[in-house]
Amino acid sequence: MSWVVEEAGFDPNRIAINGNKYMLGNGAMGYRGTLEEFGKEQLTACTLAGLYDKVGDRWREPVNAPNGLSTRYYCEGRPLGLLSSEHESHRQSLNVRNATFERETVLAGPGNNRIEIRSRRFVSMKRLDLLLMKVELCASEDCELTVLTGIDGDVWDINGPHLEEPETLAADGIVAVSAVTHELRRTVGVAEAIRWESVPASVSIEREGPSVFRRATFSCKAGETYAFTKYVSVVIGDDRPAVLERALSRARSAAESAYEDHLREHEAEWEKKWAESDVAIEGDEEAQFALRYSLYQLHIIAPTHSERVSIPARGLSGQVYKGAVFWDTEMFMLPFFLYSQPDVARNLVMYRVHTLDGARRKAKEYGYRGAFYAWESQETGDDACTLFNVTDVFTNRPMRTYFRDKQIHISADAACGIWQYYEYTGDESVLLDGGAEAILECARFFYSYAYYKEDKKRYELLDVTGPDEYHERVGNNAFTNAMAKRTIGIALAALELLREKHPEMCRELIGKLDYSEDLASLSKMHNELYVPGPDPRTGVIEQFDGYRKLEDVDLPTLKSRMLNKNEYLGGGSGLATTTQILKQADVVLMLHLLKDDYAQDVKRANWEYYEPRTEHGSSLSSCVYALVASDIGAPDWAYRYFMKTATIDLTGESKQYVGTLYIGGTHPAANGGAWMAAVLGFAGARLHRGALVVKPSLPQGWQSIAFPMYVKGQRLLISVTPSEVVVRSDAANLKSQLIRVGEEERAVWPGGTLTFRSGRSERETDLPGPFKGALFDLDGVLVDTAKYHYLAWKQLAGQLGFEFTEADNERLKGVSRMRSLEIVLEVGGVELSEEEKLRLAEEKNERYLQYIRRMDESELLPGAKRYLQALRAQGVKIALGSASKNAAFILDKVGIADLFDAIVDGTKVSRAKPDPEVFVVGCRELGLEPDDCVVFEDAEAGVQAALAAGMRVVGIGHADILGAAHRVVRGLDELVG
Ligand code: BGC
Repeated sequence: MSWVVEEAGFDPNRIAINGNKYMLGNGAMGYRGTLEEFGKEQLTACTLAGLYDKVGDRWREPVNAPNGLSTRYYCEGRPLGLLSSEHESHRQSLNVRNATFERETVLAGPGNNRIEIRSRRFVSMKRLDLLLMKVELCASEDCELTVLTGIDGDVWDINGPHLEEPETLAADGIVAVSAVTHELRRTVGVAEAIRWESVPASVSIEREGPSVFRRATFSCKAGETYAFTKYVSVVIGDDRPAVLERALSRARSAAESAYEDHLREHEAEWEKKWAESDVAIEGDEEAQFALRYSLYQLHIIAPTHSERVSIPARGLSGQVYKGAVFWDTEMFMLPFFLYSQPDVARNLVMYRVHTLDGARRKAKEYGYRGAFYAWESQETGDDACTLFNVTDVFTNRPMRTYFRDKQIHISADAACGIWQYYEYTGDESVLLDGGAEAILECARFFYSYAYYKEDKKRYELLDVTGPDEYHERVGNNAFTNAMAKRTIGIALAALELLREKHPEMCRELIGKLDYSEDLASLSKMHNELYVPGPDPRTGVIEQFDGYRKLEDVDLPTLKSRMLNKNEYLGGGSGLATTTQILKQADVVLMLHLLKDDYAQDVKRANWEYYEPRTEHGSSLSSCVYALVASDIGAPDWAYRYFMKTATIDLTGESKQYVGTLYIGGTHPAANGGAWMAAVLGFAGARLHRGALVVKPSLPQGWQSIAFPMYVKGQRLLISVTPSEVVVRSDAANLKSQLIRVGEEERAVWPGGTLTFRSGRSERETDLPGPFKGALFDLDGVLVDTAKYHYLAWKQLAGQLGFEFTEADNERLKGVSRMRSLEIVLEVGGVELSEEEKLRLAEEKNERYLQYIRRMDESELLPGAKRYLQALRAQGVKIALGSASKNAAFILDKVGIADLFDAIVDGTKVSRAKPDPEVFVVGCRELGLEPDDCVVFEDAEAGVQAALAAGMRVVGIGHADILGAAHRVVRGLDELVG
């Protein structure tokens, strides 16, 4: 299966699109997939996360660093490059597995000379300030090749220039550029060290304005390779000399190691990322690659290093959309990180905590209380969204838009993101570190925004814009109202949690926010907030008040009315505003987010109603239609939308302009949407009331989808095929996790594997939960001496003249020796004196002992030793609870005696199972309560004994015999995976 995206040939029209497609990054910076000889005209950019700047009254946007990889080539003094000379061949590729970019180009030099340029680069995932590039040059004829390589300070800016007072430096083999931002005067320092693998004939320094280069000349011999590696460090800070010094020293020390050494470090980080997050699809290579590519795009922009930055709507692919963070992050990207990298998810939600003051300022500015989050958020949380966000293509005049003022759902999105983090991870620290405060402030904002309609006895949210931005300033947008209600519900739940678990802090918070009065108001609003419901006849939920009265035109007709392909369909007089055509999923998104609140037929009715009316003018839309299509059992429809969202940055087919505004770049929300469509949609895996629910709906041809998922810090590996769902629990997990597939609900235990087959239904069980002690029966659980017992009894029966079958033997399981003998005699209809019985029992035991004396470790049942070791490693105490008088001897023979903290066998107890004595004593010897213990038993009598002792039981064997157990597995190997 390929991990590489590549293309051959060169098309100048694809430079901008390929800049996105071949992008590299590490969350701290993004480096566009342009070639090293390109400059700002080709939209080359190294975009820095979290550093913004504003020049004059233009839009505030992220800062692009001077380009430390800049390298231009010359042959005999003439420029060489895809834009400046003929090329014979060109190939470029991106390996998403190890995040490396490579180009190989053969260019025509003077005469017949052919010069091959091969360069490779990566943005280190290990050292987040570091970019590396290795170049190899080879000419077909002897010639002089010149390389102008260094730092290009003449960067691409949309609303710049942002970097001022550039200073260049060249000393001790290192070149550097530093400059300060216009607004906040923060320093960006870029230093480049170089390792010449082939010594150039001459090297000189050239400075051009904000740039500094080395001019290196090689006297090339035909067919020989000339190579060098660039080590570029990019540092941001407030103290200019310190920033420069740091960049210099980082570049210098990086250059002490070879490119390959850095690559190894970087690859190791990527291996970890894929191990944590890869989604493997069997049966559809195209979908597999598109999905992996989407995850790659998310990884390269994920802030692993800071909770002060989040992910902008265009990632780190440039300054488009002001580098701002929208609701995209919480609604479309957060789930991926929650499932695979909870630490990154924490950073993302903490960003909202750190920008709470900005949200408070915005609420205040509009005359509201609480927190009104920025529609376009930068580092402070103040809104970067302008009131005139689109330019009219006809008049070239700015258009008033109300994204900033009226998309109040942003506060619900932020609050729900924080709460969702808590629900999935169980990590309360986020709530304590400011998350609860942010949620409360969001809820308060909705209260202060709402109107109470006395006549209707309900709260309403009027004058809002929902996700469908083509209809601005509407009343009671179903999505907004439903999400506001959810936010208030979350605020009340968060307070409840604090009150219960952190009463002191709860009191403080209520005091600090002066929240006591709001509490009553919020409860009332929670009950009385109007949320538009389904039409009783059609099931369709009206998107907002009066939506149904708008012209019901179809999309092709609407499009045929357009006079300019870039005209904006919303705003004051856009074509869609008077119609039912919507920009993107709105009601349908609500049906995904709040899926448990709506019946399946309502979801279907709305999907079918809104789908033909949706323009998908936003890249956020397709995945939502995919998700709900899966939910309503239409995987083929879901598939089309899934592929659209998963390939968006591969095909480059997305809107590039709104009005006159360039909006190109990568689409992380669509990338996150691809993951959601696959994992939440097709596999249908999500957390619901503490249980992991898996409700698959696989597209045609998919043989399986497999992925990891964290639930409350416990890692699970889930694999779904058309006929079964297998959930494996990481052996390092400490707790069991409840899984629901269809009607079946069972718990997967640490190190265990659960298989749900379609059509099979087992008894629902209680949550076995975590346990401190494990008590094991011996025969049939850890070892199979049952066969030796059987052989010994069979021989005895033969001696007494009757047949003793395997079926008869079933009756002996878990039963003491004397009682077993009585059963055997019953089978043969033989009556004997007590004395005779004792003798025969002894005889049988002697035979049995002969067998077990020959036992060794190979007689352990599969998984037994590994499971015991795994439990010990987790600190679980272990006891043996067996009727056998030979138990200690057997444990010793098979080499596991030292794994037991207590051995309770037939020498310590007298009452046979189903009497609970053996387990009661075992539990006491472990110093635990029955509640803390789980028994592993293969016999029905043993299961009864454990239940009678008040313990949870795992039956080892068949559910038809051991149905009373909390859970039945075939053997311990099933629990260790
Ligand atoms: C969409 C918004 C989205 C923004 C950034 C707009 O076109 O309508 O919902 O947040 O783009 O992706």
